[in-house]
Amino acid sequence: MSKSRKWLALMVAFALALSAFALVGCGAAEEEPVDEPGTEEPGEPAAEVTTIEAGKLLAGSDTEFPPFEFIEGDEVKGFDVDLLSAIGEKMGLEVVFMTEIFDTLIPTLKAGGKFDVIASGMTIKPERQLEIDFSDPYYDSNQSLVMAKGSAYAGPEDLTGKRIGVQSGTTGEAWAKENIEDATLVPFNSATDAFAALQAGNVDAVVNDLPVSAELLKEDDRGMEIVAQIPTGEQYGFGVSKDNPELLAAINEALAELKADGTYNEIYQKWFGVAPE
Ligand code: ARG
Repeated sequence: MSKSRKWLALMVAFALALSAFALVGCGAAEEEPVDEPGTEEPGEPAAEVTTIEAGKLLAGSDTEFPPFEFIEGDEVKGFDVDLLSAIGEKMGLEVVFMTEIFDTLIPTLKAGGKFDVIASGMTIKPERQLEIDFSDPYYDSNQSLVMAKGSAYAGPEDLTGKRIGVQSGTTGEAWAKENIEDATLVPFNSATDAFAALQAGNVDAVVNDLPVSAELLKEDDRGMEIVAQIPTGEQYGFGVSKDNPELLAAINEALAELKADGTYNEIYQKWFGVAPE
């Protein structure tokens, strides 16, 4: 290498290192020393939203959770899909759903670089709020207990010592842990896997979000029934990294607009056949 080439190589390396440093700086929400104070007028729309891919809003989701997200043919459909797509439209972003295992959604969002938002019927809970931010609530939900048809069930005490199928990392799993004594929890990657195990007799009961259990058993109950509704009073929200408060603000703003202009009601009616309460 000639002397000047070496010099050039050094300069390029230095520039790369500098820009990498700058990128890391952008990722951190707490310190934004490059932003000149006072450049943002009060009352102006939120600062520009940054997403992983320009023009797109990438959504991580366990897409086996009808009617919130499910795959039909090669298309992803559902309430979350329609609602987030409408939000994306308001923001001028194309929403793209990516299928992920539910239990990996929060760590993957936190790690960054794969998807911008979690749209997966995810319940807003304080423990999760330590790790990520949630949008304003967009759906009220409860748990359900599903067993083989004709099973006797009067309360959690009837399940003592039984095998309980749950989806890993869900609020259904947490409920079963807290409320059923000496149960053997059998974790599955998806709710549909848990139901398949119940149908096959490999578990005695499944604890799962009520609207999803109802949907999964609607057309073909495969010998199973909802034996109890469990009023946990959950609310679903979209999950956003704590490093992206602008995105969170923009999602909340769009969601509020969709609630005000009737679009939210239309989407709700389409998937649940009733108006939201
Ligand atoms: N609402 C429950 C929770 O947040 C279950 C969500 C599961 N979602 C899914 N797409 N599999 O824990």
